[in-house]
Amino acid sequence: MKIKTLILAAGQGTRMRSKLPKVLHKIADRALLHHVYDTSAQLENNAIFVIYGHGGELVKNQLAQLQVTWIEQAQQLGTGHAVQQAASHIQDDDVVLVLYGDVPLLQKTTLDTLLTNVSEKSLALLTVSLANPTGYGRIVRDDNQRVLKIVEQKDATEAEKQITEVNTGILATHGGKLKNWLARLGNNNAQKEYYLTDIIEMAVNDGLSVITNQPHNEDEVLGVNNRQQLAHLERAFQLQQANRLMEAGVTLRDPARIDVRGHFAQLGQDIEIDVNVVFEGVNQIADNVKIGANCVIKNAVIGENVEIFSHSVIENATVGANCRVGPFARLRPEAQLANDVHIGNFVEIKKSTVGVGSKINHLSYIGDSLVGSGVNIGAGTITCNYDGVNKFQTVIEDGAFIGSDTQLVAPVTVGKNATIGAGSTITKDTPAEQLTLSRTKQMSIPTWQRPVKK
Ligand code: UD1
Ligand code: CA
Repeated sequence: MKIKTLILAAGQGTRMRSKLPKVLHKIADRALLHHVYDTSAQLENNAIFVIYGHGGELVKNQLAQLQVTWIEQAQQLGTGHAVQQAASHIQDDDVVLVLYGDVPLLQKTTLDTLLTNVSEKSLALLTVSLANPTGYGRIVRDDNQRVLKIVEQKDATEAEKQITEVNTGILATHGGKLKNWLARLGNNNAQKEYYLTDIIEMAVNDGLSVITNQPHNEDEVLGVNNRQQLAHLERAFQLQQANRLMEAGVTLRDPARIDVRGHFAQLGQDIEIDVNVVFEGVNQIADNVKIGANCVIKNAVIGENVEIFSHSVIENATVGANCRVGPFARLRPEAQLANDVHIGNFVEIKKSTVGVGSKINHLSYIGDSLVGSGVNIGAGTITCNYDGVNKFQTVIEDGAFIGSDTQLVAPVTVGKNATIGAGSTITKDTPAEQLTLSRTKQMSIPTWQRPVKK
């Protein structure tokens, strides 16, 4: 069985009030259409087609990495018309799966059920019962509960409008039958559109049965038409991910206050995450890591027993085992901390390695540096790595002690076990084991008197 998935994504999305095509709006930093693609890409023996229209070039460019065939629907004349655009790609013995590009949370398990219900003798339809079915196509059944047809809201009688079981738009059907029905679609209805939903009645007339299944939860089949719905599905998606984290052995102080915009390449056990932590990209987090409130962690590798205190921002950085970072620390790209490192408040590290057991605890900037092991960097130390044009390296060898408020003007090397006196501006390499300081000698003027007001 060959599956041809058609993702309908040509609609304009007027109610988003956006210059961006609707399907490019994001949930968890991933385009709506990309979510739908991800789910359908999990199906085996499946070729995916995207029917695009409004803003199509932008959609194609931004999602060029998707393994799909792009099909243009120049004018949006209805869902049936959209599917007609793909007719030449459909073989008679294909199973055609119709998805919507703006329904992002559909689960593969729901599709699996749908696909087991489809054959040459049966059409599979995903329906859902809604407390408020207004706006949706209604599922009309006979006295034996057999599906007869779908009637759109605008074409429904008052009695039909009372039906709460609605069409999700998602269906699977035999390719040959579908092509036959598509050729017979008309637009004689309230919206003068070619409704894909009209194929249901045609299937029934051709002697097929319509087999329905429902999703595990309503959010799976909700579409995004406005920003409120986008926000609702973002939270629903985040809650799903929070549940997955907890299932994997992570403690979340509040599952409603975490955002995962990406995934975890590694996720250890007994990780504890306080409120309002945002994960982006691909993160690797080992066992027993604790992350404080309000941290942003992107593409990070975090070793076991690490404690990240609140309000820290970590991006494209590596943190070795047993490190303590923050509060209010910033690890920028290519910061690499070995094991047992302490990075304290208001410390920024960029493109630097910090060796085992070193401490940079207060108010420092370390950029383009190689910091050895057992180094202690005092408060307010700055590596002056940039002359306005080029960047230079600072090397601080093992065991060095840098006094507070030191500027290290790169390129410069501080030797092994060297001590730098507080307040120094170091422009030349400093010898190992010695004290180096650059500061004017302190003096006191005993005859000096405070001025008095005239
Ligand atoms: C459609 C269904 C309705 C169902 C509802 C579920 C029809 C006629 N009606 O109604 O039964 O309850 O979805 O949300 O199918 N699209 C195109 N090209 C077009 C028109 C639409 O690609 O010419 C795409 C849209 O981008 C969207 C999807 O098809 O992803 C559904 O279109 P929409 O206009 O939202 O359909 P509804 O009128 O809501
Ligand atoms: Ca819709």
